[in-house]
Amino acid sequence: MSEESAPALTIPSSIQTVEAIIDWCAAQFEKADLYFGHGTDNAVDEAAWLVANRIGYPFSEEKLALVPNDTTRAAIARLVEERIATRRPLAYLLNEAWFAGEPYYVDERVIVPRSPIAELIAEGFAPWIDPAGVRRVLDLCTGSGCIAIATALALPEAHVDAVDLSTDALAVAQINVARHRVEERVRLIESDLFASLGEHRYDIIVSNPPYVDRGEMATRAAEYRHEPELALAAGESGLDLAIPILEQAREHLTEQGILVLEVGASAAALETRFPRVPFTWLEFEHGGEGVLLMERATLDSFFPIEP
Ligand SMILES: C[S@@+](CC[C@H](N)C(=O)[O-])C[C@H]1O[C@@H](n2cnc3c(N)ncnc32)[C@H](O)[C@@H]1O
Repeated sequence: MSEESAPALTIPSSIQTVEAIIDWCAAQFEKADLYFGHGTDNAVDEAAWLVANRIGYPFSEEKLALVPNDTTRAAIARLVEERIATRRPLAYLLNEAWFAGEPYYVDERVIVPRSPIAELIAEGFAPWIDPAGVRRVLDLCTGSGCIAIATALALPEAHVDAVDLSTDALAVAQINVARHRVEERVRLIESDLFASLGEHRYDIIVSNPPYVDRGEMATRAAEYRHEPELALAAGESGLDLAIPILEQAREHLTEQGILVLEVGASAAALETRFPRVPFTWLEFEHGGEGVLLMERATLDSFFPIEP
């Protein structure tokens, strides 16, 4: 190590148990004023995730009393140091994100999965559609493939087409499709939204597209700057992808089909842009907002419309 470089962070020797190490990590995160929002929303949960990853899953209360060896302690300290120095989301440092209770491989080619749509998938999209009747699903803007794969796992009879414009993202999705052994039912497609999909019709179209407006892009926390801009930025109002999806979805839905579309904080801009449209905004037990649900019949009535 050169004289200029900072000394490596070390866990003080008085700190021995997993529980104490988690507290120590959380204290370092707090002190560094990190931003949380890529799998956790606070320092303690982020610290627990980091430590659990190093000591091995499944994590349980009994493991809080364990005393990790020096190698594990050093690995934990290195991750804490890197998280603070680089502001990279922990998911990228671990190449791991959890979605709907399952682990996914992630790196900087995709955003870190965090969509509240996970909750809806766990219910098989009920009560909005009968899960037993779902045969074909389209996941537009699939990124890591998390929504497509979790849907395939929740609906064993369904075939899922998973679309992304980014070949980099599709390479990550391919890793996850193989990891979860859903190659037979999840098809990855390179396409600009619906452009390469042909005449197929789906029972469900689900999408978490880019929806961050220009102002928010300019002021976003350092952690978000490690995520691909193509996955976040959606023009001045954040609606550059949401509007074409609303306008074109009806041509790709079955008669009883539904569209589930996340627009996050751009929900207000959407309401302002289309004041006559009766949007249904979903509520989530574990938090999250800005996800709308629209039936094919409503799309037929209101889209495409004259703005
Ligand atoms: C917000 S990320 C969502 C990823 C994933 N569905 C999730 O929930 O974690 C949006 C994704 O849309 C993709 N994308 C951007 N523009 C697109 C377009 N015109 N057509 C298809 N995919 C697009 C990006 O590459 C990115 O992977």
